[in-house]
Amino acid sequence: MAVIENSKITVVGAGSVGSSVAYAALIRGAARTVALYDINAPRAEAEVLDLAHGTMFTGSSSIIGGADLSAVEGSHVVIVTAGAKQNPGQTRLELIGTNARIFDTMIPQLVEAAPNAVFVIVTNPCDVLTMRAVRRTGLAPERLFASGTVLDTSRLRWLLAARTGVAARSIHAHIVGEHGDTEFALWSSATIGPVALQDWRRPGHEPITRAHMQELTDDVRNAAYRVIEGKGATNYAIGLSAVRIAEAVLRDENAVLPVSTVLDDFHGISGVALSVPSIVNASGAFPVRETPFDAEELELLRSSAEALREVDASLPE
Ligand code: LAC
Repeated sequence: MAVIENSKITVVGAGSVGSSVAYAALIRGAARTVALYDINAPRAEAEVLDLAHGTMFTGSSSIIGGADLSAVEGSHVVIVTAGAKQNPGQTRLELIGTNARIFDTMIPQLVEAAPNAVFVIVTNPCDVLTMRAVRRTGLAPERLFASGTVLDTSRLRWLLAARTGVAARSIHAHIVGEHGDTEFALWSSATIGPVALQDWRRPGHEPITRAHMQELTDDVRNAAYRVIEGKGATNYAIGLSAVRIAEAVLRDENAVLPVSTVLDDFHGISGVALSVPSIVNASGAFPVRETPFDAEELELLRSSAEALREVDASLPE
């Protein structure tokens, strides 16, 4: 598929996450048109105005939107952020009741308005909401997937960059599994440049030990809780992460990103949305089946799948 001309990203939900996604899309010049849609008209219109007032400084993208579903029409990528957000101390999975109800009505409307779009689910719990939305819309799993652990992976690489003295972009390490408490790092395949992570040495920087790995995983798992405790929500980094995924779609990049798709016999796991390294291009997201997992990592992936399956099964169909 060719790179899309006159590209359009629609962001659904004009809360702190949605407006940060739109802001990131504008300042990165990710699409020709960025639309912001929310059923709360005054809120959506105010965010659109505020963003529009800065377009002199953001290049050639334009921002439109409001409470009319027509804002979504013609989108190539729809990024869904609408729904209840985590309160301090609350897990992502605890949001499922409220957000599943919102999704059951909203997602079919969005698919009808933009039948050819790729849908990126950011609302939490993003994995379970993705499973349910794929089941109910019948869309191919590559066309509706969650931002998953793209953000958590960025958090890990930021921490590793500080520890190793190497740019985050030259660190190849992924957080996979649930975007939530059972997520984990694929340490067995992590590299810094061409060097296995555990073999990396640099003067003035300690080697990364097993104990450091555990500490880093814990820091990443707790990162959102820390931010929410301090400011009530996370928004900037998730905004950038969601736009990075949209860019990979719009530019048909074939980039490898750990988004969350409903898996089909991935290391024996089917019917559960989990983040694993995936090829992202104009057709959507495709898990990289050859991703190596050692025995411990495979066990963790299965536990993540079980945790999500349980929450999914607890909801009425
Ligand atoms: C976070 C939210 C987006 O991890 O789940 O920041």
